[in-house]
Amino acid sequence: MTTFPERVFSGVQPTGNLHLGNYLGAIKKFVALQETHECVYCVVDLHAITVPQDPAELKSTIREVTAAFIAAGIDPKKHIVFNQSQVPEHAELAWVFNCVARMGWLNRMTQFKDKAGKNTENVSVGLFAYPTLMAADILVYRATHVPVGEDQKQHLELSRDIAQKFNNDYAASIAAHGHGDAFFPLPEPLIQGPATRVMSLRDGTKKMSKSDASDYSRLNLSDDRDTIAQKIRKAKTDPEPLPSEADGLKGRPEADNLVGIYAALSGDSRAEVLQRFGGQNFSAFKSALVDVAVASLEPVGSEMKRLLGDVAHLDAVLNDGARRARVLAAETMTAVKDILGFVR
Ligand code: TRP
Repeated sequence: MTTFPERVFSGVQPTGNLHLGNYLGAIKKFVALQETHECVYCVVDLHAITVPQDPAELKSTIREVTAAFIAAGIDPKKHIVFNQSQVPEHAELAWVFNCVARMGWLNRMTQFKDKAGKNTENVSVGLFAYPTLMAADILVYRATHVPVGEDQKQHLELSRDIAQKFNNDYAASIAAHGHGDAFFPLPEPLIQGPATRVMSLRDGTKKMSKSDASDYSRLNLSDDRDTIAQKIRKAKTDPEPLPSEADGLKGRPEADNLVGIYAALSGDSRAEVLQRFGGQNFSAFKSALVDVAVASLEPVGSEMKRLLGDVAHLDAVLNDGARRARVLAAETMTAVKDILGFVR
């Protein structure tokens, strides 16, 4: 079996109003992986236009996500940070994958069904093909590990299926061009962590979301200390004191969510958090939660603000990242063209 050097890739959609869910579900993990892996982190603007976008707003949300990456501690000199549309090989490989993936595979994607709803005749072709572009994002760097939220697991499986089918369909040509028995690795999702699904502060059964009408449902990266404190104090709870063991969180979605958030922010396990706070009422626990939340979010928010004050610098970071990403992506595309039998 061909072995592939470990490389991390992940993408985040450009969106304003970044919140704790984006931070714990993605960005914080990206930061940690820098210590052990070569990482490529991408703001996926091509994915954004699968649904309508306001051009002026898109431009600023691309910069906002870039600022969040850097403010959280991603080092764009040691690793690669860029926006997808600056590396044309993503779209180029996505076309090849459109010809590898089967209609039936894409028809099964639950995110498409959720996003399209009853409107399947009138959504963009791009929304349907979204997962093949995602596979191209990952595989154009022949990345082996992909930190994502639980909701992206199915897309990752599809990426593996595409890689596998390409490797099988072109096995003879892959071998003839000196790539052994596989050209693409089968990328693995990295999903673990105490708070991969951060829930609303107002309803522990709903995901924390930028589109929730109540700003009290989420902690935004841009919230200041007082806002963070106020939102946590008003967060929904139940009347019981905290349990001492994780079993006691069953059927208590709000308690479960707050404990998960504390654990993820502090780096302790849920068990450790419950050992410390078990038997106490929520007001004591919430004060401690305010402290860890302010300590980890407030510096990121204010650094983001500072970075967004210098758009020229942010754009230069993205341009430099794109230039370095392109070297890697172009190498893959050249090999893919040879494997496919294109004249170049
Ligand atoms: N679909 C991902 C999301 O909505 C974003 C994304 C695009 C992505 N391309 C990717 C994630 C490649 C990981 C790898 O969160």
